[in-house]
Amino acid sequence: LPIAVLVSGSGSNLQSIIDRIAEGVLDAEIRLVVSNRAGAFGLERARKHNIPTKVLLHTDYPTREAFDAALVDSIHKAGVDKGGLVVMAGFMRIVTPVFLSAFPHRVVNIHPALLPAFPGVHGQADAADYGVKISGCTVHFVDEEMDHGPVIIQAAVPCQAGEDGNVLGPRILKLEHRVYPQAIQWIAEDRLTIRDRHVDLKVSGR
Ligand code: GRF
Repeated sequence: LPIAVLVSGSGSNLQSIIDRIAEGVLDAEIRLVVSNRAGAFGLERARKHNIPTKVLLHTDYPTREAFDAALVDSIHKAGVDKGGLVVMAGFMRIVTPVFLSAFPHRVVNIHPALLPAFPGVHGQADAADYGVKISGCTVHFVDEEMDHGPVIIQAAVPCQAGEDGNVLGPRILKLEHRVYPQAIQWIAEDRLTIRDRHVDLKVSGR
């Protein structure tokens, strides 16, 4: 499965994908890593593994649509189209229909909370501050709303009184690194179908 990974920061999820591919348990090929921030550590992780990288600064574009069109162009040129997959891994941008229509049902994201609870950039801290007893992460297909779209997989972690986002965040991140490659592998195996908002997982033929 040809994939493009979009990052804005550390790229630890990117790293987990790189590692699972190297181990032979994830049947994907990263054709391009794109960042909208020049200093994103995720870019270094990619370079270290000889994966092509591209920096696209959204501030260089007059509109979201213009930025998205440039993003689509870069991803297409790298050899990822409708038959491939776009993987958002800590990518801090909302995409428009210009982007989504180029990759229908082929864009996924991971969020560090159990959606639809606690969307947004502080999902871990918001959940901890609310006092939930369980939080976790969600891998979902991307639509036009932030942290929204058909859910592929969720995984849960406990949260105790007195724990804040700094404690909960790393606990969730560890799980992210397990479930994201799994979700991508299901797509590589063509095992997911979307009916209304519901994602079905076909059991494997074995
Ligand atoms: C993760 O917590 C992810 O769920 C969220 O942003 C963070 C990215 O971390 N969307 P990394 O860049 O993959 O280390």
